[in-house]
Amino acid sequence: MTVKNGKNSIFFCTSCGYESKKWMGQCPACGEWNTFAEETFNEAGRKKQSSGGIRKSHAELKPVTLSEIETDTEDRMDTGFPELSRVLGGGIVRGSLTLVGGDPGIGKSTILLQTAGRMAAMGKSVIYVSGEESLRQIRLRADRIGSMPESLKFISETDIDDIIEMLCINRPDLCIIDSIQTMYTTEAQSVPGSVTQVRECAQRLMTCSKTENIACILVGHVTKEGTVAGPRVLEHIVDTVLYFESGDQFGYRILRSAKNRFGSTNELGVFEMSSEGLKEVLNPSEFLLDGRPEKATGAAVTCLIEGSRPLLMEVQGLVTETQYGMARRQANGMDYNRFAMLLAVLTKRCGLKLGAMDAYVNIAGGMKISQPAADLAIAAAVISSVFELPVPENTVVFGEIGLSGEVRGVPYVSERLREASKLGFKRAVIPAVGMRSLKDTEGMQITGVGYVSELLNIIKGA
Ligand code: TYD
Ligand code: MG
Repeated sequence: MTVKNGKNSIFFCTSCGYESKKWMGQCPACGEWNTFAEETFNEAGRKKQSSGGIRKSHAELKPVTLSEIETDTEDRMDTGFPELSRVLGGGIVRGSLTLVGGDPGIGKSTILLQTAGRMAAMGKSVIYVSGEESLRQIRLRADRIGSMPESLKFISETDIDDIIEMLCINRPDLCIIDSIQTMYTTEAQSVPGSVTQVRECAQRLMTCSKTENIACILVGHVTKEGTVAGPRVLEHIVDTVLYFESGDQFGYRILRSAKNRFGSTNELGVFEMSSEGLKEVLNPSEFLLDGRPEKATGAAVTCLIEGSRPLLMEVQGLVTETQYGMARRQANGMDYNRFAMLLAVLTKRCGLKLGAMDAYVNIAGGMKISQPAADLAIAAAVISSVFELPVPENTVVFGEIGLSGEVRGVPYVSERLREASKLGFKRAVIPAVGMRSLKDTEGMQITGVGYVSELLNIIKGA
């Protein structure tokens, strides 16, 4: 153990928490590279922890039975943004700690300032703490967004201990910390933004937010690798982790939850950046299908379930003859291996000669899909490109494809059809097994397919 300035230091893996006395390039526990961070601590403090210097008396610790635990439901506050509330699981829980991660410039400060304004307008006490921008800069942003209630308070500060003291005195309903990487405590040795500082600051805020029942939202910057800088440890501390992502060139933003102690992690909210801050996209399906060419070959529309909401999106496929040697495959927005498997099934079960063809798949609008329900639409886009025949007009396609070419059932068939019907789709190609439980066709012409070869016949018009 190295001794520096009278303090001891230890290294630990930011990925799995493995502790070591010396720095290591690769963690022997989880195998990750360059994850070791140094942490200094006070020998007295550590001794107290390990040998139990001050112990609670036996009378203080009392295990309870399940029935003794109070189960009143969490007290949730409306955020003023229905989309944000839904991603959080129905509003922000009092006393909870939420981390909002995302690339610089994506709009984290904007959405949180808007949320702060809307909650303050609903009578909640809100304090916005900025460690990145001066009060003047915040004022300029607020002026752009529109009118802000007088009750909303701001502070520009980076000393977390001062901030916590201020929070304990003011006890607001909501506190926004923008960003956790700029905060520091004088009790930790390292510079702001380092693993130790970020972890220590988040830990202190958590204790404060739980004891004072203050909902805290922390902004976290994302590193080039796409994780919140100042590591995974932060994700373990907070209750909820939201990621704000860009939907590529279209200027819309997607808010996803990656961890949620108070709700589902599949929810997704869509926002659009405007000249007056972020606006919610209330009908994302329409938004995602906007500008779709009619009667184009190599395209199919599918319906996926994101959290509790059906979402229509366009799948594009392109198959061309291989020009140089090895056939090329590329998958944008979906798993490469799944795409390769679907091509193999189409080769073997539909007799398509894809072995000497380059094949590309793309999910329009920069969306990412991971659900097998999109398989049938991907197959439709590929078949459509091979034969240069468009998928029948106004048709939505969904279903999972198995290795023997069988089309397997998917959940929420009615919900998917309802969403498609709402957007003017007239026909649906769905798994044959899904027909059985179907009660309402939503006025659509439904075709059930048992094998992927039947899809081939539909596109060929046979
Ligand atoms: P910001 O919230 O500062 O991003 P982050 O905190 O994630 O770094 O967003 C900055 C971007 O948003 C910037 O490029 C300007 C743009 N913007 C608008 O287009 N309209 C607006 O009303 C506002 C406030 C920002
Ligand atoms: Mg910001």
